[in-house]
Amino acid sequence: MTSREIRQSFLDFFKSKEHRIVPSASVVTHGDPTLMFINAGMNQFKDVFLGTGKRDYVRAADTQKCIRVSGKHNDLEEVGVDTYHHTFFEMLGNWSFGDYYKREAIDWAWELLTKVWKLDPTRLHATCYKTDHESYKMWLDYLPEERIQYFDDKDNFWEMGETGPCGPCSEIHYDKTPNKDGGHLVNADSPDVIEIWNLVFIQYNRKADGSLEDLAMKHVDTGMGFERICAIMQDKPSNYDTDVFMPLINELAKLSGKSYKSDLDDPDSIAMRVIADHVRTLSFAIADGAIPSNEGRGYVLRRILRRACRFTGNLGFKKAIMYSLVEKLIENMSDVFPELLENKELIINTIKSEEEAFITTLDRGLTKFEELTSKMLGNTLIGSEAFLLYDTFGFPIDLTQMIAKERNIEVDIDGFNKSMEEQRSRARAARKSTVQEVETLDVDFTTEFTGYSNTKTEAKVLWSKGNKVILDKTPFYVEGGGQISDIGIMQKDNIKYEVIDVQKIGEAIIHILDRDFEGNDSYTFELKIQKNRRMDITRNHTSTHIMHAILYKILGSHIKQAGSLVTEDYLRFDFNHYEKISNEQIVKIETLVNKKILENLQVSDVTLSIEEAQKNPNIKMFFGDKYGDTVRLVSIEENISETGYASQELCGGCHVSNTSEIGLFKITAESSVAAGVRRIEAVTGSGAVQYVNKLQSTIEQKEDEINAQKSNARKLEKEIDTLKKKLLESEMQSNDDDIKKVGDISVVARIIDADNMDILRDTAISLRDNFGKNGIALIAMTDGDKVQLACSVTDDLVKSYPAGKLVGLAAKELGGGGGGKPHLATAGGRQPEKLEALIEGFVNIVANYS
Ligand code: SER
Repeated sequence: MTSREIRQSFLDFFKSKEHRIVPSASVVTHGDPTLMFINAGMNQFKDVFLGTGKRDYVRAADTQKCIRVSGKHNDLEEVGVDTYHHTFFEMLGNWSFGDYYKREAIDWAWELLTKVWKLDPTRLHATCYKTDHESYKMWLDYLPEERIQYFDDKDNFWEMGETGPCGPCSEIHYDKTPNKDGGHLVNADSPDVIEIWNLVFIQYNRKADGSLEDLAMKHVDTGMGFERICAIMQDKPSNYDTDVFMPLINELAKLSGKSYKSDLDDPDSIAMRVIADHVRTLSFAIADGAIPSNEGRGYVLRRILRRACRFTGNLGFKKAIMYSLVEKLIENMSDVFPELLENKELIINTIKSEEEAFITTLDRGLTKFEELTSKMLGNTLIGSEAFLLYDTFGFPIDLTQMIAKERNIEVDIDGFNKSMEEQRSRARAARKSTVQEVETLDVDFTTEFTGYSNTKTEAKVLWSKGNKVILDKTPFYVEGGGQISDIGIMQKDNIKYEVIDVQKIGEAIIHILDRDFEGNDSYTFELKIQKNRRMDITRNHTSTHIMHAILYKILGSHIKQAGSLVTEDYLRFDFNHYEKISNEQIVKIETLVNKKILENLQVSDVTLSIEEAQKNPNIKMFFGDKYGDTVRLVSIEENISETGYASQELCGGCHVSNTSEIGLFKITAESSVAAGVRRIEAVTGSGAVQYVNKLQSTIEQKEDEINAQKSNARKLEKEIDTLKKKLLESEMQSNDDDIKKVGDISVVARIIDADNMDILRDTAISLRDNFGKNGIALIAMTDGDKVQLACSVTDDLVKSYPAGKLVGLAAKELGGGGGGKPHLATAGGRQPEKLEALIEGFVNIVANYS
């Protein structure tokens, strides 16, 4: 059976057992902070097991894309050096949600393996959790005692991660030993007896404190390694030898000129296996919205890619290569996973640019590695040097470890982590220094913020030091919730200071002035913020709220704010989302935001207790924000919606009082900032007008450029014509070999290489001029299957040899006709094959004309 048939037959089997066949979940997780990537088929049903979610079916089956490169399930080190581990693989699974349990799970597994797929039953072993005698007894219906074994938590208690649904499991192993006597190799990490199917009986939830909590219902969660079962069914020694991997490996062999061997020790073949594995992981992860980056999930991908680059280097490739395997992968798998084809460009471009970026430093890094290790006293590369490789040459620590391992060198991981932490704190310190200067001030004042409703306020100075002043009231907003601080002036009569920044310590707002404050504490000043700037900020802020609500509607309820910046020039909003926002979606988002703006909706705010706010599921609050006991709720009213609001968010920032004040909202950019985090940038109000004007002038400029290019092209065409004519003229003058005589009359017949009638005519005229008298010329050019002719006659001959007649006779020879004036006439014919004969014989036409 082909791998495609095996996958389908699994699904068909469980369909016949009344299972709903569901699609694979995205391999890139969203909404589950405990997981970076899907690592098992059951992940998408976690909520059902925990009782917090429901489906409209109780039995399901699928093939699930899984990545195991981090956390509890990490197979990275094994990849390529054994026959059956992968960073990306498919897991075939069937589930019962509080429906059937151990009996059916075991019976059906046996039926599929031995009756449908006809595996040799004497090669199968089962394992049970040490206390699960129930399963053990069931297996006795199929297997002799010596092929059923008990194991403890490490092997037979399955857990998704540090927390989450879990339970005892019963596994099926396949014995590939020649004499079927591999019982002792079960769970012994042997390629000769490998686990093929895990039947998990989910009945607990592992909590963060490590305790197990009973679930309300008992469930079945099974997982079969698709690539493993393919290797067995196709009778191959390794998963890599199946039709799942061979198209990629063959391509690599072709490109590298090296041959692939199933051999586990052959370095070239190891490299091919690793690359084939890693390119699958990268392609599927990118197709599902992850992007290599410097953080979290993105960094895991970057590490995998860089690890693969090391192996492409080993295979002798000096340039990016991995990306060129993506086509093959798509060819082989996109019928089952169409997302690969849909994201083809993105996958290829991402892998290619990452590869290219790293390859340039890989060689230098390797040289540095050699240099560092040659100077080593002991056998350990010290942490700060591993950090240097990381920081300067982009070597992920596991790449350094892998290269070190090849040379039997240890890497000081603790030292590496320490260097990393030191660098982080240096960066933190640099960021904070200006803030710290204020934070260390020891003041205990309260400033009342008047800036929600006022842009200017009379205020009394409470404290001052250098260029820092605290007043009892202020309209100046201090940066928070993404909204930047106000700037403005502080004025009393003719004493005027610029307020260049404001910061908060405790309840006091510190105004930072452009120069040292020279008054004293009893002074009263007028504080005035830059009003237009603030208006622009509020437009952007309210638009952020509207857009957030629209994103939630259009992209789905998984949308969560991951970061926000609101300035006078633009707004920037980061949020969790696993794929690029399409152009159509952008247009839709923009249109709906503008619709809300035009609907003239009231924006209002109230304070309420945090408990009250938490009770309302429609109110958006943000992960990472700290809220006090009372919170400020900003609402945009909208009578037609179910909740009565277009948006409700906890927010301390400044807003317009009616959406129509925003004017216009325009999205200027959409991008990815980190794995699973998208960014939208937009402008509003006068910023949007400026943006549109800029777009318009760019279009006009482009139009001008195009027009200039067009007229340039026309000019060049003319020049070319002139040059061609000149060329022909000079040819005319220099070439008189073909002049024939009829009495005193010179007769010339020529074919020229022209492409328009003007040139043909001009040539005829210039010959006529050259003759001056007693001359007749016939000039011909071919144009596809047509022939064009021009005939000219000097003035002294026009009466006896009118050009119009001569050319008519000539054209007749070519199955055509034409005519014109006595001194110059043109005609056309349709038989180019007779042209040579006409040119030869034209002199006779002249001679015979009377
Ligand atoms: N969750 C189990 C596993 O991953 C069975 O699907 O092995």
